[in-house]
Amino acid sequence: MKQEKENFFSEPISRRDVLKLTGVGGLGLMLGTSGTWLASKTLLAKPQDRANIVPFHGEHQAGIITPAQDFVCFAALDIVTSKLSDIKELFRVWTDAAARMSTGQTAGDESGEALLPPTDTGEVVGLSASRLTITFGAGSTLFQKEGIDRFGIASKRPSKLIDLPLFSGDNLQSEWCGGDLCIQACADDPQVAFHAVRNLIRIGRGFVTVKWMQSGFQRTSQSDPKKGTPRNLLGFKDGTANPNVHDVQKMNQVVWSQTSDQTPWMVKGSYMVVRRVQFRVEAWDRTNLQEEESIFGRHRQSGAPLGMKGEFDKLDLEKKNPDGTYVIPEDSHVRLARGNGKAEILRRSYSYTNGLLDKTGQIDAGLLFICFQRDPKRQFVPMQTRLANSDRLNEYIVHVGSAVFACFPGAKKGGYIGGTLF
Ligand code: HEM
Repeated sequence: MKQEKENFFSEPISRRDVLKLTGVGGLGLMLGTSGTWLASKTLLAKPQDRANIVPFHGEHQAGIITPAQDFVCFAALDIVTSKLSDIKELFRVWTDAAARMSTGQTAGDESGEALLPPTDTGEVVGLSASRLTITFGAGSTLFQKEGIDRFGIASKRPSKLIDLPLFSGDNLQSEWCGGDLCIQACADDPQVAFHAVRNLIRIGRGFVTVKWMQSGFQRTSQSDPKKGTPRNLLGFKDGTANPNVHDVQKMNQVVWSQTSDQTPWMVKGSYMVVRRVQFRVEAWDRTNLQEEESIFGRHRQSGAPLGMKGEFDKLDLEKKNPDGTYVIPEDSHVRLARGNGKAEILRRSYSYTNGLLDKTGQIDAGLLFICFQRDPKRQFVPMQTRLANSDRLNEYIVHVGSAVFACFPGAKKGGYIGGTLF
C-alpha cells in the first residue's frame, strides 16, 4: 500500500513504513529511512521516578480501576483506512508506543537524523511517567457504520456495546459524540497526558482522524496531598459512593466483562460511557446553599449525606423529616442515581473548562462524565433515565456529548491491545 509522502517525513514513504518508523515493536532499534539500523536512544525513567509508573501490560487495561490521576486527555477517533489489516498493525504499534510512554519513555526511538522530524514530539523529555495510563476502546461504528460492515467484523460487535437512547433533556451535538475508537490518557501532569494522545494520533495519521477531544482535570496531588475525594465545579465532592476498586469480586461484578457476557474477545475488558455535561455555572452560582445541598442530597462541605456528619456515613434513603418528607429528597441526584442500589457503575469523571461558550460571556465548563461497567444497558441506562426524567440538577446541566466504547482487555507483554478482536 504505497501512499504519497507524509508531510513530516522528508522522503516518499508508505504508511506502513510510517508505522514501522514510529513504532518500536519490541525491536529496541528502529530502521531509518536510509535503511540502516540505528542505536536505541530511549529516555528511561530514573529510579526515583519508578513509583510514578502504572504498569501498562496486564489482564485488564490500566486507566479503568486505576485510582484516578489528576488529569485526562480524551480523544475520540474515526478510522479512515478501509483495511482491517491496517487497523491491526496500528494497534500493534500503538501498544508498543503506549507501553513505552507509560514508563516515562518517548513514543519511539530517535533516528539521530537531524534532517528528519523527531520520532517523538519531545515535550515530556525530562518529565516522569506521572502515573500515565492509556486506555483504548472501540465504538459501535467500528463494527458497522450506516449499515455497512466496513471491516468484516460486524458479527463480532458485542451485544453490550449499545447505542444509547436519547434521554430527556439531551442536547447532543455531533461534534461531541461517537467515534470509531477512543484513547483515554490519564496522568498526574496534563502535559504528559496530552503528549500521549498527541503522539498516538501522530502515529495513526493516515489511518485515523480525530473526531473530538476533551481535556479534564481534578484537584492535584500537590494541592491535596491527602488525596481526598475530588470536588466537581459545582463545589461538591464527586466520587464518594463509588464501588471499591480494590474489591476484586465487586469489580468482576460491576466493571469487568465476564465469559457469561457472551463476547469472548471482551472478557476482562469493560464498557465505557462518556457524557460531556455542560454546567450552567452562572445559574448555579446564584443558588443558595440549602438548595444546592438538597439537589445533591449531600452536604457541600463534608460530602456527608444530608443530616449526617461524615462523608462516608450511610446514605439512609428511608429516613424522614418530622413533616413526613424524605431527608434525602425524592428528586435529589444521589437518591435517583442509586435507585434500588442493585445496578452500580464505576465513575471516573473529570472537570473541564473550555474558555467561553459564546459572546455573551458564559463560561464553558462542566464534567467529562466517564464511567465503566459490564453492561451499559443494565447499568448506565436505567440510572440515566431516572436522572434525566427527575433529577433537580437538570436545571443546571445539559448533556451535550455522548459515546460508548468497548474497552479491550489488557495486553500481555508481546501481545497487543485489540489482539483478542483482530
Ligand atoms: C453533571 C453531571 C453530574 C454531576 C455534577 C454529578 C455529581 C454527583 C455528586 C456530587 C454525587 C455525590 C457524591 C458521590 O457519591 O460521588 C454523585 C453521586 C452519584 N452520581 Fe452523579 N453526577 C453527575 C452525573 C451523573 C450521571 C450521568 C450518572 C449516571 C447515569 C451519575 C451517577 C451517580 C451515582 C451512581 C452516584 C452515587 C449514588 C449513591 O450514593 O449510590 N451521576 N454525583
